[in-house]
Amino acid sequence: MERKKVTITGLLNKKKENKPITMLTAYDFPLASIIDEAGIDMILVGDSVGMVVLGYENTLPVTMDDMLHHCKAVARGTKYAFLVGDMPFMSYQVSSEEAIRNAGRFVKEGNCDAVKLEGGIEVIDQIKAIVKAGIPAMSHIGLTPQSATQLGGFKVQGKTAVSAEKIIDDAIRLEKVGCFGIILECIPDKISKIITSKVKIPTIGIGAGIHCDGQVLVTYDILGLYKKFTPKFAKKYTDVFLQIKKAAEQYKAEVEERKFPAKEHSFTIDEKELKKLKM
Ligand code: KIV
Repeated sequence: MERKKVTITGLLNKKKENKPITMLTAYDFPLASIIDEAGIDMILVGDSVGMVVLGYENTLPVTMDDMLHHCKAVARGTKYAFLVGDMPFMSYQVSSEEAIRNAGRFVKEGNCDAVKLEGGIEVIDQIKAIVKAGIPAMSHIGLTPQSATQLGGFKVQGKTAVSAEKIIDDAIRLEKVGCFGIILECIPDKISKIITSKVKIPTIGIGAGIHCDGQVLVTYDILGLYKKFTPKFAKKYTDVFLQIKKAAEQYKAEVEERKFPAKEHSFTIDEKELKKLKM
């Protein structure tokens, strides 16, 4: 079957048909091209770029310029997947005007199809304004890394009835203001099940169990490329860190032993031309 660009309608249909939605993060052209070719439905240029690519301790220092730089590269490698740009800390919290302006930059300059914002009721006005401006928006609730300090660290959310009710209520309100999807991070699977059954828009889980309409993970976690910390919910499908290290060690040894470059990696000059050299 001919592959088509993924659209919001396509994502909503997947939910209706009970077909799981797949989403992964990407930060550059090669990673985006591979993920797109693998048939993943959605690519997120996450602000996790700050930790896994730029080496910050958390996502807070990530700027709009950082995000746009990476979104542009990812967009060049993405043909079919639905591309979502993650709004960095302080690019939408101050006012709706700023939120619209920055969301617009993700679409105009970053070539994204949509934006994602962390937060529920606290940022509902900004989400409403972005959607009203014609920019598709996804929300991200539960554990929201940009406000991890306020949440008491990187902890599972919604473990008490009060906090679970707030998350469920947020999801319902977010659908009402026009979000086309919701990321649920680090919440009990039974709470994601309730949310998924209560909203018509897709729920995409990360550490939120099997009942979500789709799943997202940080690609560097599934590749084993980020060594500092691997969350419990992330499954490591391969160890690219080890593979790259082995290749670098082999290269080092071959250069030091003068085994590389071999003849097939070198260029030659005609003997006659060589003799013409005045030295
Ligand atoms: O920044 C990111 O990669 C994210 C995912 C964890 C959902 O927000």
